[in-house]
Amino acid sequence: MIVLGIETSCDETSVAFVRDGRDILSNVVASQAELHRQYGGVFPEVAARQHVLTIVPVLQEAMAKAAVKWEDISAVAVTYGPGLVGSLVVGLNLAKALAIARRLPFIGINHLEGHVYSAWLRFSPDEPALEPTFPVLVLIVSGGHTELVLMRGHGDYVLLGHTLDDAAGEAFDKVARLLGLPYPGGPHIEQVAREGNPRAFNFPRAWLPGTYHFSFSGLKTAVLREVEKYHKEPEPAGKERRAPFMPVVLRELPVPDLAASFQQAVVDVLVGKTTQAARAFGVKEVILAGGVAANRVLREQMAATLEPLGVTLRVAPLPLCTDNAAMIAGAAYWRLRRGERSPLDLDAVPNLPLAPSPAEAEENLKGNEPR
Ligand code: KG4
Ligand code: ZN
Repeated sequence: MIVLGIETSCDETSVAFVRDGRDILSNVVASQAELHRQYGGVFPEVAARQHVLTIVPVLQEAMAKAAVKWEDISAVAVTYGPGLVGSLVVGLNLAKALAIARRLPFIGINHLEGHVYSAWLRFSPDEPALEPTFPVLVLIVSGGHTELVLMRGHGDYVLLGHTLDDAAGEAFDKVARLLGLPYPGGPHIEQVAREGNPRAFNFPRAWLPGTYHFSFSGLKTAVLREVEKYHKEPEPAGKERRAPFMPVVLRELPVPDLAASFQQAVVDVLVGKTTQAARAFGVKEVILAGGVAANRVLREQMAATLEPLGVTLRVAPLPLCTDNAAMIAGAAYWRLRRGERSPLDLDAVPNLPLAPSPAEAEENLKGNEPR
C-alpha cells in the first residue's frame, strides 16, 4: 500500500510517498526557516502563504522522486493538527482536492502520532524492518510539545506527563535568542555547546516529584538572569536611574558554557523522567521523537542510561526527527489498515491532543507513580 502524505502544520512544507508504513519512496521537505529567521520565530501568516506557494511544486517533486503514478497510490493522508491553523488548512485542502479528483481514501493524521511513527521508517530495504514491541514508551520533544506517552498498541496512547509551560524545543529556541544565536535555536545551541563546559553553570532542573510532568520556564529564566549579569549595568543604589536605561555590555558572554550547561539541564530532566517511566511501566522499547530528538547529546545520554536496563532506544533517522510528511504517511498506514477513513469536511484542529483522556492517564498511573 503506497500512501501519499502531506504535512504543513508549522514551517515545513512536505510531501512524501511511503510503502506499507515503512519504506520511504520519497520525502521532500521545503523548510521556511530562512524566511522566519528575521522574526526570531515562526510568523503564522507568512508560513501559511509560503505553504500556498510551495505545496504544489513540492508535490510534483516528491512524485517525480518516488517515480509513482496516480494508479499506484492507495490513499491520501494529511496532518490536521496540532499546529498553526492557517498552515494546516493549506495541506488539508490539497489532500481533499487530490482525494476527490483521484477518488482515493482520505485520512487526517495527528502530527504527534506522525512523530511517533517516524522511528519505524526506513530509507532503504537494506535497513532492518522494525516492528514496535508494545508497550512502548514515547517521549515527544518538539518546538510545541514535550509529552511522555505510553503506547499500548497501534493508535492506543496514554498521556503520562506533559510540560506545564514551555516545550523543550521552545526552551532551546528562547535560550538561543538570549545567547544571540539564530532561529531555530536547537541545532545552534547543540553546535556551540560542543565547545562549552556543561558543568560551568549549575542551572535548575525542575524534577516535579511524583509526576511525569516537565517544566522549562524556570530554566529559561535562570539563563536570562545569568545573561543579564553580563549585559546589564547594575542598578544604581539610589532612586535615580540613568534615562534612557540602556543595557551595557560588561563582559563577553560565555556562550558555549551557557549553551552547554543549559542543554545538560534539559537532557538530565528528559533522560531522568523517561528512565523512571520506563522502569515503572516495564517497557522494553523507548521512542524518542520530535525535533529535539535530533540532539546528539540527548540521544547518546538517553541510550546510555536505558541500555543497562535492557531497554532499546529507537530514534528516527536524523532527517526524520524534524517535521516531514513521511512520518504522516507512515502513521496513516496503520490506521488505514484498520479501515479508518476521515470525512472530507475534516477541519484543522490547532490543539489536537495525542492521548484524549487525562482521567484515563491517571487511572493508568496508579501504582506506577514516579518517586
Ligand atoms: O518537530 P519539529 O520540527 O517541529 C515541531 O513540531 O515543533 O521541532 C522543532 C524544534 C525546534 O524548537 C528546534 O529548535 C528543535 O526542534 N531542534 C533541536 C535540534 N534540532 C531541532 N533542539 C535541540 N537540538 C537539536 N539538534
Ligand atoms: Zn513536529
